[in-house]
Amino acid sequence: MLKFVSNKGGGSPVDIETAILAGYAPDGGLYVPESLPTVTKEQLERWKGHSYKELAFEILSLFIDRSIVAASDLTAIIDCAYGTFEKEEVIPIPKLQSRDNTYIMELFYGSTLSFKDIGLSFLCNLVDFFLARKQERLSIIVATTGDTGPAAASYIAGKSTLDAWVLYPKGLITEEQERQMTTLHHGNVHPVGVYNCKDGGDDLDLVISSLYANLEFKEQVNLSSVNSINWGRIMIQTVHYFYGYLQVADTVGEEVSMCVPSGAFGNLCAGGIARKMGLPVKHFIIANNKNECLHRIFSKGVFSKEPIHETVSSAIDILIPMNFWRFLYFCVDMDGSKIRKWTEEFATTGRVEFDDETFNSYSEGFLSASVSDDATLQIIKELYDNESYLLDPHSAVAVGVLDKFRAEIGDHKVICLATAHPSKFPKVIGQALGTDVLPEEAKHPSIEAAKRLCQKGYTIDHEHLEEGLLHAISNYWEQSQ
Ligand SMILES: Cc1ncc(COP(=O)(O)O)c(C=O)c1O
Repeated sequence: MLKFVSNKGGGSPVDIETAILAGYAPDGGLYVPESLPTVTKEQLERWKGHSYKELAFEILSLFIDRSIVAASDLTAIIDCAYGTFEKEEVIPIPKLQSRDNTYIMELFYGSTLSFKDIGLSFLCNLVDFFLARKQERLSIIVATTGDTGPAAASYIAGKSTLDAWVLYPKGLITEEQERQMTTLHHGNVHPVGVYNCKDGGDDLDLVISSLYANLEFKEQVNLSSVNSINWGRIMIQTVHYFYGYLQVADTVGEEVSMCVPSGAFGNLCAGGIARKMGLPVKHFIIANNKNECLHRIFSKGVFSKEPIHETVSSAIDILIPMNFWRFLYFCVDMDGSKIRKWTEEFATTGRVEFDDETFNSYSEGFLSASVSDDATLQIIKELYDNESYLLDPHSAVAVGVLDKFRAEIGDHKVICLATAHPSKFPKVIGQALGTDVLPEEAKHPSIEAAKRLCQKGYTIDHEHLEEGLLHAISNYWEQSQ
């Protein structure tokens, strides 16, 4: 049976159920599989005509032992997760007309219109399945830069096994994203708007880590997380890389690259793992906005925390790409002691400079660049004017970065990952198109419906967040027992 260990090397191996229900490993590390399953060319060829759901079943079966989740249960969980997606094919992949060999992987047809629905619809259903079987309940804390929160709230809403405490930086996400969390009427969803997050969403992660370290509280309220620190998110996100490749390549082995708008590296960590499992992706192109946290790592070998810039692609205004540590583990011969040393160095100095051998190992097959807000807005306008295709600002960052590399990489097929629906960012779309009257493509019925609902939730200043959460979560837990 495949076991899971901490990427910092501590503790003993656990099964997938334990790894997923725990979120963090006991030594504060991130869970990773003890060894990565491999996928052969023949397997990929067999999977070529698979639907997204069929492929998800095959790939998840490489990680989830049948003795823990039976085949029929896994199928039911996948069906339940993706059955509500707006498109039958789950993830459409149209080809752009204005650029050669360029595809857009539309990952935003779940209930809250971003790629986070792909991971969280599955993960929340899987966690619910485990908890119902054990007759247990968990308090989930989630931090968001705008998209994880709505997805977690939506897929946890109404589940008797789970409570969601969803923290968001007040004023730094769009009103539409906020309403996706605050207009849910279910009693087990608790949105918390946090004022004065000077470092954006990263400020919230630090408080969550600190609550985790409070073992008495953690045990008292059965605390866990479905942020991308949870291995379940990464595991399910490998599937769309396999699916995209198999949809777009004529034959297995054909050169295909992928360009990904990135922040915390959760999405691309899954891509990097899929390639290590055997998916023949040529280049992974990391697309950053002005907060170039990943571009610094992949071009200079420096993991450092710099001041935050507010941009039009606000969901990737992220300073600390936590999942890089998980990917790095696989690039240093799974040596957890190295990850422990580097993460400690980062915690004390705010900066790590990698040696040449490490840099060459993790950066192989990756390219990276950033684009400005002006360029992002221009891409949105250009694509809409030229081919009536409306990108959200994050997906536009990906297309903008691909434009920078196109001449260098040649004309093979490239898939840009479109991570959100434009209706979540109407102000930016209006700014890009130079109009207050938004086109129909910038609207979505669920966003319009949320405008007519009352909002609920807590608010608190960042300075008091930890104390406020300790109080609110313990009280709620006691009263609801
Ligand atoms: C719309 C959108 N695009 C891209 C990202 C970046 O994903 P990741 O943090 O996994 O790199 C996020 C979330 O952070 C997002 O909400």
